[in-house]
Amino acid sequence: MLKMRGPVGPEGSGVVCECDDVFLTEVQRVVSVYKERPEDLVQALHDVQSLRNYLPREALRVVARTLDVPESRVYGVATFYSMFSTSPRGRHIIRICESAPCHVAGAAEIINSLLNELGVEMGGTTSDGIFTVETSSCLGVCGVAPAIMIDDTVYGNLVSEDLPAVLRRYR
Ligand code: FES
Repeated sequence: MLKMRGPVGPEGSGVVCECDDVFLTEVQRVVSVYKERPEDLVQALHDVQSLRNYLPREALRVVARTLDVPESRVYGVATFYSMFSTSPRGRHIIRICESAPCHVAGAAEIINSLLNELGVEMGGTTSDGIFTVETSSCLGVCGVAPAIMIDDTVYGNLVSEDLPAVLRRYR
């Protein structure tokens, strides 16, 4: 198994969004950097998503108001890009590459083992809110196929037996 570390992103804080005043104040603080700069909408959404690993509807309203952009446009961008989610997700996002080189190298077995290990369906979130599992196109590390990415860290040359140890690092 090969582990590669990418740039460190901010931690999400769990699967539940209560969208209380404290959270919305934090959203306001984060997006105020982009005040009335609609051209920075995608970056603003990235920053807001980093707070809770997804984009609650209430947060999108704050973004729209602060950047002075129609709410429908903010929602459209948030739902267009696959890197954004408007549904609650786990604290850690596991992306499994399904492109051809990984498929040939045994990605299907890794997928089955991973879903079994976590007890979720593809696209689902574990009941403890720790992991959400998603498929992905090429992660850019075909030389170490099959590969998965957990948050910003890539794990390559995987075999099913590696998974329990990999997952333990995030629990
Ligand atoms: S095909 Fe899986 S990393 Fe490129």
